[in-house]
Amino acid sequence: MSTRTVFWDYDKHTVNLIDQRKLPWSFEIAAYDDYRAVAAAITQMVVRGAPAIGGTAGFGMALAARQSSAADKTTLLNQLATAATILNAARPTAVNLSWAVARQLRTAQAADLLSADDVRAALLAEAQIIADEDVALNRRMGFNGAELIEDGDTILHHCNTGALAGVDWGTALGVVFAAHEQGKKVHVLVDETRPRLQGARLTCWELSQRGISYDLIADNASGHFMRAGEVDIVLVGSDRTAANGDVANKIGTYNVAVLAQANGVPFYPVVPTSTVDLNLEHGDLIPIEERSPDEVTSVFGKSIAPEGATARNPAFDVTPHRYVTGIVTEAGIVYPPFTKHLRAAVESEQVKL
Ligand code: MRU
Repeated sequence: MSTRTVFWDYDKHTVNLIDQRKLPWSFEIAAYDDYRAVAAAITQMVVRGAPAIGGTAGFGMALAARQSSAADKTTLLNQLATAATILNAARPTAVNLSWAVARQLRTAQAADLLSADDVRAALLAEAQIIADEDVALNRRMGFNGAELIEDGDTILHHCNTGALAGVDWGTALGVVFAAHEQGKKVHVLVDETRPRLQGARLTCWELSQRGISYDLIADNASGHFMRAGEVDIVLVGSDRTAANGDVANKIGTYNVAVLAQANGVPFYPVVPTSTVDLNLEHGDLIPIEERSPDEVTSVFGKSIAPEGATARNPAFDVTPHRYVTGIVTEAGIVYPPFTKHLRAAVESEQVKL
């Protein structure tokens, strides 16, 4: 088994993360024994990608319980409420973060847990379940999506949605991995994904590791390849999908979706049901993270703009559902009307919990 993006060290009692800031130049594991440092690692993007952030938050809550010296359940629950607030504030857009934290708070509150130690044990067990479920359902989702892929297809992909974006396996790239495992010959056009270059650094690294054919392209080249008829399908992930099928994903996804529709190329977000936020009616209600302007004005610490240049840096955008051909989930591929069919997919997975 490959190293998971996030895992608990059962000997040292630490949360461990593949440090994604260091890839592709070096492969390093960062270990955390303080949940506040886990929250900071999410903010600083040591770990990133919606399902990976969710898995990390699950273990972060287990770590917070372990760090606490509370002798009784009530005191521990109060401290866990503080930990939940700190973890939830780490990044705003990916709903998997608050989804995992809320699931852990529900776990901690269960009436059959009598002592603080009962809660500690239950939170670690639940964090492990969240992580294991993520891997299993992402694999299932990947094979659901692989039905869309024909032998010889070229897939355009934005950001990184592979094993590094989940606990393992991933979402949109998981579809590519599944098609590859089925023996289909596929080629991926990889958007570099400025400003943090998740496509160039992480997606190219993952495709190389698996021996899958790809070409890295500048973000602004995707329209050219679609117009030239070189793209069969666009696959992307999502950080939060609203009830009506509007999809928030890495900045630049909207451009790709509009160009895909203009060129008759199908556009499929690949979205575990934990990323669907049925509480939000439409995408304009999704909070969009604004990150430091430095990420735009410099590359790897070297300035690319005149001194004093100002910049805007939204980390995500919203693609309205009218550009979305279908949404691949672990419950199957969902087609319009999304308001009805997405809810059914989410509810069918909740029944299994
Ligand atoms: O800012 P990031 O790197 O966390 O953004 C990640 C993405 O936008 C992914 O496409 C998204 O999380 C879904 S795929 C797992």
